[in-house]
Amino acid sequence: MSPKNHRSNAKSEEQLEAGADRARPILHQKAREIQPYGKLTPMPIALDENVRAESVGNLNQVLADTMTLRDMYKKHHWQVAGHTFYQLHLLFDKHHGEQDELVDAIAERIQLLGGISLAMAADVAETTMIPRPPRGREEAPVQISRLLEAHELILKEARTMAKKASEAGDDGTNDLLVSNVIRTNELQAWFVAEHVVDVPLVRAAGA
Ligand SMILES: [Fe+2]
Repeated sequence: MSPKNHRSNAKSEEQLEAGADRARPILHQKAREIQPYGKLTPMPIALDENVRAESVGNLNQVLADTMTLRDMYKKHHWQVAGHTFYQLHLLFDKHHGEQDELVDAIAERIQLLGGISLAMAADVAETTMIPRPPRGREEAPVQISRLLEAHELILKEARTMAKKASEAGDDGTNDLLVSNVIRTNELQAWFVAEHVVDVPLVRAAGA
């Protein structure tokens, strides 16, 4: 092997090592945020900044409340007790999944409007208007009352926000609130409310 060849072999080993080194994960990286919370980034969607800012603020409120209701459904799915256990266990999980879809749709609309969607539990807890339930287990009628109150709170704020979005020309936000948030919450409230109608289980009241 000529000295020249020897050198080129050594070089290719170096290159191999360098290649392996490049595959090493770079850990513990830190940098400034690219967008602080509360600041809007420009978006070419033909909506004024003040319109987008109002929608982002409103959507983050309904997002925090929707995340809280979603998590309350999972809590009640796990902790429900009694002779209606099985159907409530399944129903609560179904509603949890539907609320989770709403969460994603709301959060992504906030981002496309140039805002920043709330994400972490601590931030959600500080923002939500839904009263915090106890950690312990509660009777099914109490669980249902909590869910119904949360649905009504979201429906009330979503209707107000939908009207404001429509007046401001933000049709996309209006549509999301009306077609998704309001429709889903109204339907779920009905399914849950029918469980606390006090009707006889076996013998009719007039029998
Ligand atoms: Fe489950």
